[in-house]
Amino acid sequence: MKKQVLITQHIPEAGVSLLTGQFEVVYLNDRTPRPASVLAASCPDASAILSLLSDRIDGALMDRFPRLELISNYAAGVNNIDIKAAAARGILVCNTPDVLTEATADLALALLLAAARKIIPADRFCREGNFNGWASDLFCGFGFTGKQMGIIGMGKIGLAFARRAESLGMSVVYSNRTPNPLAPPNYRLTDLESLIKESDVVSLHTPLTPETRGMMNAARFASMKAGSIFLNTGRGELHDEEALVTALASGKLFAAGLDVFEKEPGIHPGLLASGKVVLTPHIGSATVETRNAMAQLAAQAVSDCLNGKIPQNRVIV
Ligand code: DGY
Repeated sequence: MKKQVLITQHIPEAGVSLLTGQFEVVYLNDRTPRPASVLAASCPDASAILSLLSDRIDGALMDRFPRLELISNYAAGVNNIDIKAAAARGILVCNTPDVLTEATADLALALLLAAARKIIPADRFCREGNFNGWASDLFCGFGFTGKQMGIIGMGKIGLAFARRAESLGMSVVYSNRTPNPLAPPNYRLTDLESLIKESDVVSLHTPLTPETRGMMNAARFASMKAGSIFLNTGRGELHDEEALVTALASGKLFAAGLDVFEKEPGIHPGLLASGKVVLTPHIGSATVETRNAMAQLAAQAVSDCLNGKIPQNRVIV
């Protein structure tokens, strides 16, 4: 009898087809997460779950799948899965790192450029027929050369984004639990508080953990440099959205760029109303190439695990 696999939401075909020949696949081909009770009832004999970052998978849900060997998350971040509960039950957890590094760094750069150079309101201005002639003060933005980029979390994406910041003529400082040996010597490791106080742009690239949740709080927004820019392409729960709205409204920050939100898919009304923030709907890894590669990687982990091989990209507690 073929082993059963549950795919919780829509993923690119490359991942689905890798599994359908080998296993009995229950594919919930939808673009919204199902409640836990629906997931549990849809494939109770699943040996593997291929989940998305919007599926909350806790110990109670794992217990509804007595044959479960693996949860393969179609994301680099695994904050949606209780990885300690999985380890306690002997269930492997895998993710899809590396393939999304460059795409996510590109999106962070796009947000930075759009926020700094007021691209969204300038585009609207043109479309609304307001461009009546060149003016010396029309949409004056934020220049990069000689300024400091502060990167919180110098993993692979932080490093890829640092290279992009350097190409804009910025110096790079970073905070991380340990120095990143892959970071060039001119990227200076510093403590979090100094980074926040001294950087012209502060960009979050750290995983969401109990320690990092809410790390950009009101006190830290207040200590940012006047006229600086805040970026978050990691996880929305890393920042306090109310505090960010206050920092934008007070004039303290020049602008912000956000791909992630504290209560996704909800967005704070103060952000929606602010002309100083550029918003994208968690699309950091959304290129066709990257999303296909993520699907293949997540499906390959399922195939390997259920065929008795050790899957790549296991998340170690
Ligand atoms: C991830 O993989 O964690 C990203 O947020 C998805 O784009």
